[in-house]
Amino acid sequence: MAPSRALIFLGPPGAGKGTQAKLAAQKYGLAHLSTGDMFRDAIRRGTPLGKKVQPILASGALVPDELVMGMVEERLTQSDCARGFIFDGFPRTLPQAAQLDALLDAKGYGNPLVIEFCVSPEKLLRRLAGRWSCPLCGTIYNEFNAPPKIAGVCDRDGAALAQRPDDRFEVVKDRLAAYERQTLPLSDYYRRRGVLEVIDAGQAVEEVGRQLDSVLRCADGADGRL
Ligand code: AP5
Repeated sequence: MAPSRALIFLGPPGAGKGTQAKLAAQKYGLAHLSTGDMFRDAIRRGTPLGKKVQPILASGALVPDELVMGMVEERLTQSDCARGFIFDGFPRTLPQAAQLDALLDAKGYGNPLVIEFCVSPEKLLRRLAGRWSCPLCGTIYNEFNAPPKIAGVCDRDGAALAQRPDDRFEVVKDRLAAYERQTLPLSDYYRRRGVLEVIDAGQAVEEVGRQLDSVLRCADGADGRL
């Protein structure tokens, strides 16, 4: 059987990583591992981890590496990861990237394929300001370009849509600053390793999906692993 594939979606808040990761995970039969979703789930359930990270997410800062790594390591042991997975929002610091390398090596995955989502700051701000999501099924909407059929209601299950507390403008500024300072260096880290592909994520969802498919098809052709 072909070895499993580890994909990493890298990009600033609002770049569309979650939107595309969800679609690609379904299409390619991979697990979608969003560390942001995992933290929000822990907060909703009021777990000890959730209580620890709640004020950190609310401030727009990054969660300490050791908390992130413990959670990711545990998640990778679950059976849905066996065919491969897409990391959405992880790694976000150089130490996380180095620890992930060691983890992937130990599990026999080899190099990850990293897709960097590039979008202008103006578009990011607009996307975040317009984002609504379903607390039940996780479907992401946007009031400007991907609205639900009925305002404020999920098309799939009728649940009331919610806005993320960290999408308030004051917090978004700090999230973008944290991205520039702590996460952007990963772009060079992976480029030097020859595993980075960059896509223009400022296009419409379908067009970004097409670019992604083409990168994934090339990677598949190159090593037959997807
Ligand atoms: P996380 O949940 O990962 O947030 P993020 O990286 O800031 O990313 P977002 O979810 O905001 O954006 P996205 O790129 O997924 O965009 P989306 O598809 O939703 O992290 C939250 C917090 O958790 C962090 O601040 C940190 O505290 C903590 N954390 C998480 N991981 C961590 C880690 N590894 N280390 C430390 N701390 C960590 O799209 C956004 C909107 O745009 C939506 O409305 C969507 O409909 C719309 N949209 C999407 N694509 C398009 C398009 N092509 N055209 C037009 N609109 C689009």
